[in-house]
Amino acid sequence: MTASTSASASASPTAASPTEWWRSAVIYQVYIRSFRDADGDGIGDVAGIRERLPYLCALGVDALWITPWYPSPMADAGYDVADYRAIEPSFGTLASARSLITEAHALGMRVILDIVPNHTSDQHAWFQAALAAAPGSPERARYMFRAGRGADGAQPPNDWRSVFGGPAWTRVTEADGTPGEWYLHLFAPEQPDLDWEHPEVRAEFESILRFWFDLGVDGFRIDVAHGMIKDPALPDLGLDEEEILAPPASEDHPHWDLDGVHEIYRSWRAIADSYEPPRIFVAEAWTRNQERLARYLRADELHTAFNFDYLRAPWQAQQLRAVIEESIAAAASVDAPPTWVLSNHDVVRHVSRFARPQDGIPRHALTEIAALGAPDLELGTRRARAAALLMLALPGRAYVYQGEELGLPEVEDLPDAALQDPTWERSGHTERGRDGCRVPLPWRARPDDSTGFSIIPATAAPWLPQPDDWASWSEERQHDDPDSMLSLYRTALHIRRAHPVTDTSRLRWLEAPADVIAFERTPELACVVNFGADPVPLPDGAEVLLASAAGFTQDDPPTAIGPDEAIWFTPAGA
Ligand code: BGC
Repeated sequence: MTASTSASASASPTAASPTEWWRSAVIYQVYIRSFRDADGDGIGDVAGIRERLPYLCALGVDALWITPWYPSPMADAGYDVADYRAIEPSFGTLASARSLITEAHALGMRVILDIVPNHTSDQHAWFQAALAAAPGSPERARYMFRAGRGADGAQPPNDWRSVFGGPAWTRVTEADGTPGEWYLHLFAPEQPDLDWEHPEVRAEFESILRFWFDLGVDGFRIDVAHGMIKDPALPDLGLDEEEILAPPASEDHPHWDLDGVHEIYRSWRAIADSYEPPRIFVAEAWTRNQERLARYLRADELHTAFNFDYLRAPWQAQQLRAVIEESIAAAASVDAPPTWVLSNHDVVRHVSRFARPQDGIPRHALTEIAALGAPDLELGTRRARAAALLMLALPGRAYVYQGEELGLPEVEDLPDAALQDPTWERSGHTERGRDGCRVPLPWRARPDDSTGFSIIPATAAPWLPQPDDWASWSEERQHDDPDSMLSLYRTALHIRRAHPVTDTSRLRWLEAPADVIAFERTPELACVVNFGADPVPLPDGAEVLLASAAGFTQDDPPTAIGPDEAIWFTPAGA
């Protein structure tokens, strides 16, 4: 590798305004049920997050994204919302939520919530009213109720499949006890889809946004942002099954990524912009390609979107480089920042993804990843350390999923009886689902118990069982260990902060062999990642700032980058 450069600029050179914090922020995802349990009931809560705010501040993140904390029967771990203006009692109260927002702000961190507009819980007052009302009533018009097919209406209105398995329609029993209409649920039956053509639905969600913005919330992550508008003809799809949270399988899909969703976001953007400071949005949108994703990020729509192409990319230099280039160009075409994410609560943790042979096929679900063979966690961890340095050096916005900074692997052997993801039941026990990345975090390595999840002695076990050796990954064990994943993230986040990027629309690539990625974040901070089997020498005169390999010290810096390792350095002459 040489330090000579080949510039690769993309479409729009517009520099980000320094006041637009969201363009290059690092956002920490708090999956509330599994983050920190303050009251010892085995379920994470608002008070637990508040207790950990100093930790998050010291880690060096700019904002938290908290997954749904609203009252919910938990058919889908909170993504089935029964009341959008309150806090789930087992998580806390509105007063404690308000305190959390104030305390996070006092520490210089922003707070982003999760809004779930595609569907409500079946326990939501609107759906209960719809069930009690007759076919054709105004109460049913807010959801997608339809007559069944066939002479007696016994067949669902079309062949759509639930993302969690099984049909996307459930038939209700009418008040007189007869089998009645069907309602659509793209996810679990306990998550009926709203009809976004209905003005009351639109008005209600605009009011919900205002409710939380008025409380000081800085923005929203929009759940299933690509799903709210359906083809009114509800045509058959002709597919046997829907892959769980994946890019749409066809180009003219009747319910994913329809153009009608954009009108909704234009009205939401106007609301966010009416606040001082303006509030922001991030879309969870699974689209066919980066060009379709960029449509969500036009100037009068959403600010950012998750980059699932990056998350799903295998650990391979060429593929990652292609995704990086394409992502930067697509985002820049609408003057949005690119974003980077390695893990979240819906996918196999990346330590475990990278612990398998990388055959070049993008994937993220447990069944398909487990099929690649037993994990080599040492390899996965080495790659995850390098992946952290790669992601955090890229221009734009990055996401850290809770526990990734501890290097947690996926828990792949949860007992069947413990599984709670609706996918497990709905797939007829063929898909184990997403529980393995949601196991409660190990904070303390107590001699008396292995969990360290609860602040006070727990009266109940964590809602998902923690593996016996979970304490070895605890924050307490890692805190003062310079070679820990936690120390690597903490150091990297602080160096990153000292090297801000103002123009997220371009990347300066450094010349490198085919199985190496090398680029400058700023003239003073370059990153090189070695995906090959042989060590790669450092560029002449490079001053190493940080290395993913354990054992790195500034006094005795490495002279080469080993396989599956990354290094941050200041190029000679900078
Ligand atoms: C969330 C999932 C959830 C689904 C339905 C997703 O995209 O991230 O966890 O199951 O939406 O709300």
